[in-house]
Amino acid sequence: KEALRVGLLGCGVVGSQVARLLVEQSEDLAARVGAPLELVGIAVRDTSKARDGVDPSLLTDDAHGLVARCDIVVEVLGGIEPARTLILESFAAGASVVTANKALLAQDGPTLYSAADAAGVDLYFEAAVAGAIPLVRPMRESLAGDRVTRVLGIVNGTTNYILDEMTTKGLAFDEVLRTAQELGYAEADPTADVEGHDAAAKAAILASLAFHTRVSLDDVACEGITKISADDVAWATETGHAIKLLAIAELTDAGVSARVHPALLPSRHPLAGVGGAFNAVFVEAEAAGPLMFYGQGAGGAPTASAVIGDVVSVARHRVLGGKGPDESSYASHPLAPADAA
Ligand code: HSE
Repeated sequence: KEALRVGLLGCGVVGSQVARLLVEQSEDLAARVGAPLELVGIAVRDTSKARDGVDPSLLTDDAHGLVARCDIVVEVLGGIEPARTLILESFAAGASVVTANKALLAQDGPTLYSAADAAGVDLYFEAAVAGAIPLVRPMRESLAGDRVTRVLGIVNGTTNYILDEMTTKGLAFDEVLRTAQELGYAEADPTADVEGHDAAAKAAILASLAFHTRVSLDDVACEGITKISADDVAWATETGHAIKLLAIAELTDAGVSARVHPALLPSRHPLAGVGGAFNAVFVEAEAAGPLMFYGQGAGGAPTASAVIGDVVSVARHRVLGGKGPDESSYASHPLAPADAA
């Protein structure tokens, strides 16, 4: 079969791992897809910067030209623009898109879903929420026949890492944040992590998927962990609790509620023991009952694993026919007033 042309937008912590896996695993991926996947270009701002393990001849600063000649575009730039424009251009050129861009999906998901649907191509985003953990696909597909009532999760690795290190090692907030950045967990601007905005974007995506509705970032009440002191953490430990930043999406009598805030959990609660940069998400559904998803929610290779899984799925659709689920038909659902949460 003819090779499928894959273009990569961005070559940072996640992008470089995606590039590595696409090349290293090319034979296995070709066997699973039924056609070879050819990485045809990697769009970056600075083509002169060396990137470990990446063939420099693939680098280009012409992202628009790249998306015009691809079957599959992988967007790991983050942020709203130019990611949004490039994804829309990809759809217009008939390419399927795999993205890890939670901020963009939380802010402008409906535009992207509609554009993908109109072009008859796929938009997959497993890596946008909880890194390596299969969560988006189960929510979109496995639970499509059930009624989800509540989603409760630790979905930001950086803040979980910070709270965990403050608890177990008694370290100060700033010191731990620096390490989280060095380990590749934190966003380029870590304010998004510590103020809860990253978790809020993921809460909006999860609430939309869980309740088949449109919940955007602006609908999510959000408080981060910047006000949590070493004394708060010590007091929580002394009294048999753990402080965790939780993303909560639930269906209440008043409507859909989505919020992010620090919560005091009894130490026996399963989420209380989630350490390091790990994520964990509880999903409660009427027929299924409680489900728990657990794994690495941040970092280059874990996030790249989810991206490549999506690439295989959309590539299979191109080879065998078919298309993934469509979120463009979501209706607005009444949102609970903030004080009903
Ligand atoms: N900064 C994010 C986190 C990366 O710490 O979880 C994964 O989305």
